[in-house]
Amino acid sequence: MEPLVQFLYLSRIAGEKPFEVVAEVAVQARRNNARVGITGVLVFDGAHVCQYVEGSLAEIDGLIERLKRDPRHEALQVLHHGPSEGERLFARWRMGYLLLDDGQELTRFAALRGPAAVRAVLDQLPLVDLEP
Ligand SMILES: Cc1cc2nc3c(=O)[nH]c(=O)nc-3n(C[C@H](O)[C@H](O)[C@H](O)COP(=O)(O)O)c2cc1C
Repeated sequence: MEPLVQFLYLSRIAGEKPFEVVAEVAVQARRNNARVGITGVLVFDGAHVCQYVEGSLAEIDGLIERLKRDPRHEALQVLHHGPSEGERLFARWRMGYLLLDDGQELTRFAALRGPAAVRAVLDQLPLVDLEP
């Protein structure tokens, strides 16, 4: 089996209409990721996004390159990028999408790094419908 790579980042949606941008991005992400076997979750707090993705090395590297060049978001901070120790965390979901309630800010995760960041983000978000 191909080794699995995880990538977790935080960024801020650019422009005046972040909800519209994220709606468009979520549809695009779901479509593209289904094609290439990337699974994960995209979380939006009204201003920032935190996205966790997992997939093959080549597909995740390709996605990271596109994400870094995408002008629809800015100030991208990598919280984790590395090989996964085990199974996929989101085997059933191509790309989940979660909108947080008012006042829950994703920037609270900004100081976390490494696999602990992945655990903290996935543990602290209400991913009720997004379990594998
Ligand atoms: C916040 C954010 C999250 C994104 N997530 C994904 C993703 O999970 N998968 C993906 O293919 N593209 C994602 N994109 C879009 C890519 O940056 C890029 O536009 C897209 O992959 C280009 O491929 P396409 O033109 O073939 O659709 C995201 C963009 C933003 C701004």
